[in-house]
Amino acid sequence: MSNELSRRQIILMSALAAAAFIPIGKALGAVGTESSVVDAGPLADYAKDGVFDQSASHGFFVIRKDGKIFAQSSVCTHRRGRLTPTPDGFFCKAHNSTFAADGKVTRPPAKADLVRYAVRKDDKNHLIVDTSKRIEHAQFDAPDAHVEAPSA
Ligand code: FES
Repeated sequence: MSNELSRRQIILMSALAAAAFIPIGKALGAVGTESSVVDAGPLADYAKDGVFDQSASHGFFVIRKDGKIFAQSSVCTHRRGRLTPTPDGFFCKAHNSTFAADGKVTRPPAKADLVRYAVRKDDKNHLIVDTSKRIEHAQFDAPDAHVEAPSA
């Protein structure tokens, strides 16, 4: 009898544990999927060359330059400080690292250059950024590294 009770207790505990963990697992997967793809708004919002920081909370700047629009990380590669655009590039006030406009480190302690993220244009002419797809400097000419900027 005590063995049967133990078995019931084990089954009950297993069921409770499964009930507790399954939603957490689903929630983590959903958050990861949803948060990695960001609608950065109409391409028409990026009418002139420059750095646009309205998506910095999602981890990237939208940059328009030389007829291209791309998404470049807004997070310092040293210890994930938030970057601030400057006339020459980007600055991290956490430990004073700087990056050139193209994301290359110009002053340590950061050692790694900034990445870009895959972008595409959807059927509403919005810029869609996928932060799960990192693009390193050597791949900046890849088809998903930028979209063509609309005429000004
Ligand atoms: S977190 Fe940016 S320099 Fe340290």
